[in-house]
Amino acid sequence: MSDRSGHFAGDDPFAIARSWLAEAEGAEPNDPNAIALATVDADGLPNVRMVLLKEVEADAFVFYTNYESRKAQEIAQSGKAAFVMHWKSLRRQVRVRGLVEKEDGPLADAYYESRSLKSRLGAWASHQSQPLSSRAALMAEVARVTARHGTNPPRPPFWGGFRIRPLEIEFWADGAFRLHDRFRWYRSDLAQDWIIDRLNP
Ligand SMILES: Cc1cc2nc3c(=O)[nH]c(=O)nc-3n(C[C@H](O)[C@H](O)[C@H](O)COP(=O)(O)O)c2cc1C
Repeated sequence: MSDRSGHFAGDDPFAIARSWLAEAEGAEPNDPNAIALATVDADGLPNVRMVLLKEVEADAFVFYTNYESRKAQEIAQSGKAAFVMHWKSLRRQVRVRGLVEKEDGPLADAYYESRSLKSRLGAWASHQSQPLSSRAALMAEVARVTARHGTNPPRPPFWGGFRIRPLEIEFWADGAFRLHDRFRWYRSDLAQDWIIDRLNP
């Protein structure tokens, strides 16, 4: 198909995503793996927020969060999510839409263990997305969970990963005179082979 080369070379979109992320790590001042994650509520009203992309697997993207958060509730209800990564330094973006499942096993344990103690305790202390009366109340909760779990907290049962299995992945690179390059990988279900198209900018 077509004249794909340079940044877009190769047929495996996960390999391209990994390679663009590696470039962004050398170019972005902060959080090259930040993604804007979109979900919809029960009325179809979209919601978007940043999270950190932690794994690009052979066929999926993984991030971590609180399973009682708003995003997790919306994912539980729809089973779907989308995200975009944009690197201002590279003038490139990657868009992903797909089906979501929990990553609640050894991979989530290993990632939780890799975090600093304060972050691990923070995951216990934060009732993410719930109203909070004050900063002091949060710090009191941190003190409470620290007293309870000490220096080796287990992964909270309400905290773990989500794996997004894409139905669509689009790579976009800035071009002269707004004539950008766009390539889309699409499959109607996860068992199908990818169809690759070049898209108008
Ligand atoms: C750069 C950046 C990275 C973030 N990474 C995460 C993350 O990996 N996981 C997470 O739960 N929240 C992360 N957050 C906070 C989320 O944007 C959001 O405030 C939180 O998850 C609650 O969202 P919700 O109420 O829609 O569930 C990040 C925020 C920023 C700005």
